[in-house]
Amino acid sequence: MSVRCSEFSFEVQATDGDARTGVLKLPHGEVKTPIFMPVGTQGTVKAMTPEELHGDVGAQIILGNTYHLYLRPGLEVIEAHGGLHRFMNWNHPILTDSGGYQVFSLKELRKIREDGVEFRDHISGSKHLFTPQKVVEIQETLGSDIMMAFDECPPAGATDDYLAKSLARTTRWEKECLDARTREDCSMFGIIQGGTSETWRARHLEEIAVMDFEGLAIGGLSVGEDIEAMYDTVAFTAPKMPGDRPRYLMGVGKPDDLVECVTRGIDMFDCVLPTRNARNGQCLTSEGPVVVRNAEYAKDLSPIDPNCSCYVCKTYTRSYVRHLYRAKEILAARLCTWHNLHYYLNLMSGLRGAIEAGELDEFRTAYYARQG
Ligand code: GUN
Ligand code: ZN
Repeated sequence: MSVRCSEFSFEVQATDGDARTGVLKLPHGEVKTPIFMPVGTQGTVKAMTPEELHGDVGAQIILGNTYHLYLRPGLEVIEAHGGLHRFMNWNHPILTDSGGYQVFSLKELRKIREDGVEFRDHISGSKHLFTPQKVVEIQETLGSDIMMAFDECPPAGATDDYLAKSLARTTRWEKECLDARTREDCSMFGIIQGGTSETWRARHLEEIAVMDFEGLAIGGLSVGEDIEAMYDTVAFTAPKMPGDRPRYLMGVGKPDDLVECVTRGIDMFDCVLPTRNARNGQCLTSEGPVVVRNAEYAKDLSPIDPNCSCYVCKTYTRSYVRHLYRAKEILAARLCTWHNLHYYLNLMSGLRGAIEAGELDEFRTAYYARQG
């Protein structure tokens, strides 16, 4: 049984070089692209309520994880609520990753078979099998606006021999994911692998682009290759991806990476960096990183980012946030997360405005000048 999604559309609105703006229409709302998706692995974007996230922070779409939610609380609990949106009270779009990437990072605990991946989970140690059919069933139960196909993310530096086998298997798995779809209100994105090799990227793109995915993703980057190789791979791959479908770069990145990869034609991003760093007292700002736990901020009465309009920067000093961090107060994590996500989403909004105005070059120049 193969169905097409009936509640999905993507329209490109403006272009500037390879960069573009667009509008993604999904069952739970519209998303303006290019966009950053905060990561909500366990049914929560750590430290933020959905109201805060959508209100002041300005998140339009968040990412959830098949692997984590399947293990805990389990599908029965989420199904009893009527899906992930109602379970976590986030009434806006959700994209879910397929679990492939999470399962592969388990290393000793997993075994790749032709029909899927066998693994022992990190919570109870019990055995599971993820197949293309299984991860689609899980994501449909979650009720994702965008489901990701099941892929293998090959390690950085994988040999041609390894890539040949892995990519052939991933292509087959992705086709099986499309065939396993039953819900018309859940779209699905395919994933292009191939490491940093132009030959493998081009080959895999050809195989995946002909399938009926509503959007396409670049996977397998930010896995330890150097930054220039990452940018080159995106510059090579993104412009070859069908222009009428959204292009998603998985697991990327730092603020500079967003600027560079939007310039190279990417529409969607996700990364744990702004939320994870926040919990370590590291803030991203228009003037570069501010490690708010550092002694230099002990008596600093300025906001985390003098150019930021978020609630945290309008209200508190670096000195206060540093105090909270050192006193291990839970509010430190909340305030740093709030600011970091606002910074990321505001950067994306700035990029959209620059593309619409045909001034992306000027925006980049000004961005790097401020970062110092
Ligand atoms: N998240 C970051 N990279 C990847 C990838 O290559 N595949 C999947 N499924 N998720 C990712
Ligand atoms: Zn701020």
